[in-house]
Amino acid sequence: MTPPPPGSEVHAADVTAGDASTSIERTSILVYEGPVRAWHWITALAITTLAVTGYLIANPLPSVTGEASDWYVMGNIRFIHFAAGYVLAIGWLVRIYWAFVGNHHSRQLFKFPFWKKEYWDGVAWEASWYFFYRRWPKKYVGHNPLAQFVMFFVFTLGMFFMIITGFALYAEGTGLDSWQYALFGWVFDIFPNSQAVHTWHHLGMWVFVCYIIIHIYAAVREDIMSRQSMISTMISGERMFKDNRDD
Ligand code: HEM
Ligand code: HEM
Repeated sequence: MTPPPPGSEVHAADVTAGDASTSIERTSILVYEGPVRAWHWITALAITTLAVTGYLIANPLPSVTGEASDWYVMGNIRFIHFAAGYVLAIGWLVRIYWAFVGNHHSRQLFKFPFWKKEYWDGVAWEASWYFFYRRWPKKYVGHNPLAQFVMFFVFTLGMFFMIITGFALYAEGTGLDSWQYALFGWVFDIFPNSQAVHTWHHLGMWVFVCYIIIHIYAAVREDIMSRQSMISTMISGERMFKDNRDD
């Protein structure tokens, strides 16, 4: 007996205990290797820290009485922002390295199959599933095509933008003869002034906040409704399929 399509009703009376014809063989496959999973959760924590402290840098807390140096509130907030910025940037360098030495799923974040028609067909299919038009999605071992689209254009490009503009702003503090200025000082040749870099860096935060809201919604929704495991895959690395149909 072929397993019922997702969403169809199965009555308890139809299912006999121990009846092999109603059981579903579950297969799992390693997708996300240890370093990718560790990087994912460290990056999630770093970006959350950066968004909270960055928001406070832009909207400082009300002043407290006494000497500012006794409290050093904004100094600590900025320190936490810069420390998390280093964690984010070093993690990103390690993640890029891993794309060269890891399995082919580790490269998906950096590749975009722009010229492949079947890729765009997959994007259209997944979008119609996300918008509740289709009754079931296709199966994917790595990211689905729609997820890949958002991850590449919003996350991957966004990471380069935030790290480059962040270090350029940081270079304003470390000075003209610092390595930060040598590597990132050119940013001020592109933007008209420091305030513009601040504004675009700030806008980048809101792009990331939108990404995170949609990403977590999609991860939870797909965990429940898609044909494969989702959140546990980013913990164990294993993708488990809930049915064995090929469509
Ligand atoms: C700041 C927060 C987060 C950011 C920036 C983020 C970013 C990312 C990125 C870039 C990937 C792709 C990983 C790769 O290919 O190397 C990914 C995958 C994934 N994330 Fe997150 N993530 C965040 C939080 C979360 C949370 C809280 C959850 C769980 C609810 C989650 C669940 C997942 C899952 C399940 C995948 C794999 C999706 C798939 O297999 O298609 N993420 N995330
Ligand atoms: C996704 C990552 C990041 C987010 C969400 C973020 C967010 C923010 C925000 C909202 C601000 C305030 C901008 C303003 O309105 O003036 C800010 C400032 C700043 N950020 Fe980031 N940032 C990120 C990554 C980084 C990185 C990697 C660095 C590098 C160390 C960095 C360094 C700075 C610096 C130096 C400032 C200016 C501090 C000041 O003027 O007191 N940021 N960030």
